[in-house]
Amino acid sequence: MTMPSSAHPARTVRVDLANRSYDILIGPGLIETAGREIAARRPGARLAIVADETVAALHLDRLEASLAGAGLASTRILVAPGEGSKSFPTFERVVEALIDAKIERGDLVVALGGGVIGDLAGFAASVVRRGVDFVQVPTTLLSQVDSSVGGKTGINSAHGKNLVGAFHQPVLVIADTSALDTLPAREFRAGYAEVAKYGLIDDAAFFSELESNWREVFEGGRARLDAIETSCRAKAAIVGRDERESGERALLNLGHTFGHALEKATGFSQRLLHGEAVALGMAQAFRFSAKLGLCAPKVAERVEDHLAEVGLPTRLQHIAGGVGPVSDLMAAIAQDKKVARGSLTFILARGVGGAFIAKDVDPAAVQAFLEEEATPA
Ligand SMILES: NC(=O)c1ccc[n+]([C@@H]2O[C@H](COP(=O)([O-])OP(=O)(O)OC[C@H]3O[C@@H](n4cnc5c(N)ncnc54)[C@H](O)[C@@H]3O)[C@@H](O)[C@H]2O)c1
Ligand SMILES: [Zn+2]
Repeated sequence: MTMPSSAHPARTVRVDLANRSYDILIGPGLIETAGREIAARRPGARLAIVADETVAALHLDRLEASLAGAGLASTRILVAPGEGSKSFPTFERVVEALIDAKIERGDLVVALGGGVIGDLAGFAASVVRRGVDFVQVPTTLLSQVDSSVGGKTGINSAHGKNLVGAFHQPVLVIADTSALDTLPAREFRAGYAEVAKYGLIDDAAFFSELESNWREVFEGGRARLDAIETSCRAKAAIVGRDERESGERALLNLGHTFGHALEKATGFSQRLLHGEAVALGMAQAFRFSAKLGLCAPKVAERVEDHLAEVGLPTRLQHIAGGVGPVSDLMAAIAQDKKVARGSLTFILARGVGGAFIAKDVDPAAVQAFLEEEATPA
């Protein structure tokens, strides 16, 4: 069904979830053929496209033209760009706009944008009329390799990130890799942290490839497509085995317990993007693993070296303006959803590609580690 639109034909990755299975289409120029793909699956559906203003200015006209060309009527719902839109006020506005647009069962919400839009629009779709279907059209590297796949949707609470949400799988993901050409370099780099994550979790060969080929991934073309496909396959496999995170899916949180605490300490602001927090968090997870004697110190150095080479932060000292006292980070970690009765759950590693779920991490050990990290070398 997907037409090759250039020298790099589109790829399809299937997410296997019984009657909630869906395809991820990956390739250049797919926004131009999105109408045809959607119409083939849902002829006659009414569509509401949720986008942020930045993405709308760059890519919405093309998407609307493609939908209209396939005979699909759509309305647009725009929100401000940035993490601040994963909030109750914006959520309410989007939900009301969807109802106003007469989106009903059988119709579709289309999330055009990065992870913020996918999480927000997906959550809105999960509650409007007790759930309507949605399509993800991710436009950041982070959303193409991570947030658009797997069905986690939600918004932030005053208590922390992603504390309000639902599992709601999309019915289709359309990852147009040429949409990434307009992405600022800093955003691309941040998304790359989640790409590297898949290698660090359980695919040492992929991490080695990235160490040699990361420049090609940044440049675009085939290496970028390959890296996105490998990442989507890795996430699809884990989600297919553990949709609701009762076990293995937690591995995808590598770097995220430290990372979320850092995002909170920097006020979810432009000072530290999600992917940057994850990069720093992964470097910390490996250093913490080394400190606990789980992996060799040189493994932690190797991870840090690669992330630093691509320009990602790996030390607390790299965060502009600092992160405040360790006690604040500890409080944020205790608030994290991965906490269970006094002991902390972390994703630690025995090596590159050797991540595992550690359920019994002593908070005092984490505190001591963070104090060390906060002391400039
Ligand atoms: N649901 C999940 O499983 C999951 C997984 C990982 C992350 N997330 C969430 O994803 C969010 C981060 O996603 P993100 O990094 O995509 O952030 P984002 O959606 O805020 O996008 C980053 C910035 O890039 C801009 N942008 C997007 N696409 C563009 C393009 N093609 N050209 C130019 N500019 C573009 C946006 O306007 C925004 O300013 C966080 O809220 C995080 O919690 C969710
Ligand atoms: Zn993430």
